[in-house]
Amino acid sequence: MFDTQTTGLPSIHALRRNSPPIVTVRNLSLHYGEKQALDDVSFDLYPGEILAFIGPSGCGKSTALKCLNRMHDDAQDVLIEGTILMNGDNIHGPDIDPPLHRRRFGWVAQKPNPFPTSIFENVAYPARLHGLTRNRKALKIHVEQCLRRAGLWDEVVEHLTVKSGTELSGGQQQRLCVARALSTSPEVLLMDEPTGSIDPIATQRIEDLLLELKRDQAIVIITHSMAQARRIADRVAYFHLGKLLELQPTEAMFTAPRTTEARAFIAGKMG
Ligand SMILES: Nc1ncnc2c1ncn2[C@@H]1O[C@H](COP(=O)(O)OP(=O)(O)OP(=O)(O)O)[C@@H](O)[C@H]1O
Ligand SMILES: [Mg+2]
Repeated sequence: MFDTQTTGLPSIHALRRNSPPIVTVRNLSLHYGEKQALDDVSFDLYPGEILAFIGPSGCGKSTALKCLNRMHDDAQDVLIEGTILMNGDNIHGPDIDPPLHRRRFGWVAQKPNPFPTSIFENVAYPARLHGLTRNRKALKIHVEQCLRRAGLWDEVVEHLTVKSGTELSGGQQQRLCVARALSTSPEVLLMDEPTGSIDPIATQRIEDLLLELKRDQAIVIITHSMAQARRIADRVAYFHLGKLLELQPTEAMFTAPRTTEARAFIAGKMG
């Protein structure tokens, strides 16, 4: 469990997995009107880990992800039951301010969706909106840090204020969206098939990036690529018809799935 051979000390990852969960989900159920999309879902998310959600289309992966940052709040006819804690606090408690809560999460969607504004403004906007920087100089430093962490700085430094985010390549746009997601200094990154619409080289860059980012941000990623889940996830959750049927460390999930449903899904997707 401990990476003691090289350093004699426990690895950072092992240490973080010994810390309490950042998010705790218990008995979460969700109905869209008559349609039940989640059924008694429970899991923990730990600091420093990448947790992958896998499962057939329509099994509730995106619905579960959206519960964490209260993205269903404004939807009509959505009923949520169960408990979600963040650092021990109920996210639906009376003291929680929803916009402040949402700021603790970064969201990256399947299709890169930069704002049609400059590269700089794409990253500056969320920080300015939430009053996170004191002045223009601090804002510039913040934007540079986010773009560096997203692995994009060197490619865009010459065009920060003159080029629109929409003028970048698909892979660059997605890294810009990661930089934008980092702009509010979130504790958790939520990613819904973030490499679903970009090419293999751009995908690899995002995967490398996530392995870097997980030191500071817990990450939940939905993926239809079993190879991707195996490459980057620490643990994998298998959803089926609204239930979280199985959650295992990545290697165990792919080599010894416990449920027949997960076994069949993984065999079909891998074969
Ligand atoms: N806004 C909505 N209103 C009504 N039903 C919805 C809504 N969003 C999702 N659903 C239904 O809830 C179920 C779960 O959908 P969800 O989008 O969470 O699945 P998913 O696992 O993310 O699928 P995919 O892999 O195709 O993205 C599906 O049956 C879907 O049709
Ligand atoms: Mg989905």
